[in-house]
Amino acid sequence: MTIRLGDIAPDFTAETTEGTIHFHEWLGSSWGVLFSHPKDFTPVCTTELGTVARLKPEFDRRNVKVIGLSVDPLDAHGRWAADIAETQGHAPNFPMIADADRKVSDLYGMIHPNASDTMTVRSVFIIGPDKKLKLSLTYPASTGRNFEEILRVIDSLQLTAKFSVATPSDWKNGEDVIIVPSVSDEAAKEKFPGGWKTLKPYLRIVPQPRSS
Ligand code: BEZ
Repeated sequence: MTIRLGDIAPDFTAETTEGTIHFHEWLGSSWGVLFSHPKDFTPVCTTELGTVARLKPEFDRRNVKVIGLSVDPLDAHGRWAADIAETQGHAPNFPMIADADRKVSDLYGMIHPNASDTMTVRSVFIIGPDKKLKLSLTYPASTGRNFEEILRVIDSLQLTAKFSVATPSDWKNGEDVIIVPSVSDEAAKEKFPGGWKTLKPYLRIVPQPRSS
């Protein structure tokens, strides 16, 4: 199944390392990151899960719940967690779906037969509090993901959901942003009373607005 940006992220019930989860209910009013990795006891995945565990406070701070998935059973996830703690210094501190029957993988199109008939690719889905898909990424098995980038995108998504701005290339939280083209100069005067810099009529730079 192909899920497009703006679609409702499919709901499911799954067994996880933290018990049975009904996905939408578990998300509640939080943002969510659902990410898959090809297989338990594989080297790149081991580093990725350690990284996500280390960054968990950063996801919490942004009101984002994180959930991993692989097509191995629960007992394998449990045994592997000890290896992750030992080698990465951080044990998984978020639920991991045991998708042995590939129900969730199929629902989200995480199996790519050109890559492997049996393993999930490295998918990332960012889901908003409205349960709509805000971002999807697909990486090959051989390339570990950059989870700082996922946090950066979440910062952008959360900012642009609140204000009529977009974030430029390589933007980081706190840096200047762009006034979206649909806002006229007249309307921008109200929204951004501190003013902005016009580089081109379509490229207007403004300090990052702050939530009050
Ligand atoms: C890994 O996580 O290291 C990996 C998994 C599947 C294929 C290649 C690498």
